[in-house]
Amino acid sequence: MSEPLIYEISRAGRRAVSLPACDVPEAPFPADAVRADLPLPEVSEIDVVRHYTRLSQLNHSIDTGFYPLGSCTMKYNPKVNEVAARLPGFASLHPLQDALSAQGAMALIHSLQELLAEIAGFSAVTLQPAAGAHGELTGVLIMRKYLYDRGETQRDIILVPDSAHGTNPATTSMSGLKVMVVPSDARGNVNLEILRSLTAKHGPHLIGLMLTNPNTLGLFDENVEEVVRLVHEAGGLVYGDGANFNAILGIAKPGLLGFDVMHYNLHKTFSTPHGGGGPGSGAVGVAAFLADYLPGPIVVRDEDDEYAWQMPAKSIGRVKAFWGNFAVLVRAYTYIRMHGAEGLRQVSENAVLNANYLQARLRDVYPIPHSDRTCMHEFVAQGKLEGAPGINTMDIAKRLMDFDFHPPTVYFPLIVAEALMVEPTETESKETLDAFADTLIRIAEEARTDPELLKTAPHHAPVKRLDEVKAAKDMVLCYGPGCGG
Ligand SMILES: Cc1ncc(COP(=O)(O)O)c(C=O)c1O
Repeated sequence: MSEPLIYEISRAGRRAVSLPACDVPEAPFPADAVRADLPLPEVSEIDVVRHYTRLSQLNHSIDTGFYPLGSCTMKYNPKVNEVAARLPGFASLHPLQDALSAQGAMALIHSLQELLAEIAGFSAVTLQPAAGAHGELTGVLIMRKYLYDRGETQRDIILVPDSAHGTNPATTSMSGLKVMVVPSDARGNVNLEILRSLTAKHGPHLIGLMLTNPNTLGLFDENVEEVVRLVHEAGGLVYGDGANFNAILGIAKPGLLGFDVMHYNLHKTFSTPHGGGGPGSGAVGVAAFLADYLPGPIVVRDEDDEYAWQMPAKSIGRVKAFWGNFAVLVRAYTYIRMHGAEGLRQVSENAVLNANYLQARLRDVYPIPHSDRTCMHEFVAQGKLEGAPGINTMDIAKRLMDFDFHPPTVYFPLIVAEALMVEPTETESKETLDAFADTLIRIAEEARTDPELLKTAPHHAPVKRLDEVKAAKDMVLCYGPGCGG
């Protein structure tokens, strides 16, 4: 039964609160500040509570169900993170407060800078960027400024593998540079032969290469050291898209593999669910020779052992107002401290184990390119099933919603036709993974025996199939009288 919407149950004069009679003289209220004609619904308190509670339940959430959204990593956010982020000493700070009265928060920022540098093998870290894509832009601007300061201003090309996230070429273009695509080889690695010819041909014009490792096929590049060597030999720098760092914590340090710059998606790797448009953090780590170029201010410890803000000497400047998305930083710090070095390694090991378990359960039912390889934290299957020619990835994704599973990422990466990108994350139990695998196997069977069931899915969701392009481009954000929505 669909419940009545709040404007429909509005009745003139109904109130959610009753205030006691006023026992002080009325204070004058400026007439031009009065908005008497607001068309607000008139409802009781219980109606308001039900309205908002119902709205909060319309979306699938990580707290209510499995959310295997590859690349976007909707991982569990431990509740202790929320306790820490809400501590009044953090939550009530004002960003304009002077440094002396914010030493605790600055100690946290300083410690997080150092922890992240240690975990990934870099010399210095900025916590300013607000998201992964923002971290990429920051990193590429650092690379460009460093090379231009050396007088190599002819450099204007960035190599981007075809398996890259769309933000990599977008960042390159936003930085005023040219994208050159490097294809993958048959094993899903960067094609070394083509990379060799590109670096040989364009070496003097290369700013560098952006490499996601593990890549968006969920594969660790088997030739990563050779890739790094070729780019360095050509005089370019290597950028690490560290969005998938959650697969290699405590196992591999990109800085030691030769990466010069890397962004971390704190909101993926160190909890704080990703997506939903919420705040994130795309911290950036750099090798020692780039430390002076970091955006600032960053937190340093001065000679009096106090924490102070400092602008690095050759900084590309500020990339965000104030001090980054501080509450996300508190969550990441809490997560790292709570796990410690051993625990972080276990996070990655479990994420990889869970993904391989699911891949093994599904590979005889769904095509999975590269399933002969061990995947990392995610893998990419295909929604093309033998004996079900009319069924595609979207049908499978929509049918999954009938079983209360959030669908995996669909149609990405672009180099896999009908991609279904699955990332179970480290916290899910074997029972949950089995329930998900059993459901996908059942759906594959339905695709052959009752394809209409998939074509008309979802059957129980609050909304059916949407025109997703129209929904994104032509949003109706207003509801009620006079909205026209
Ligand atoms: C591989 C990769 N790179 C970059 C990004 C961009 O990160 P963000 O969405 O925080 O901008 C993502 C997003 O999850 C990603 O998966």
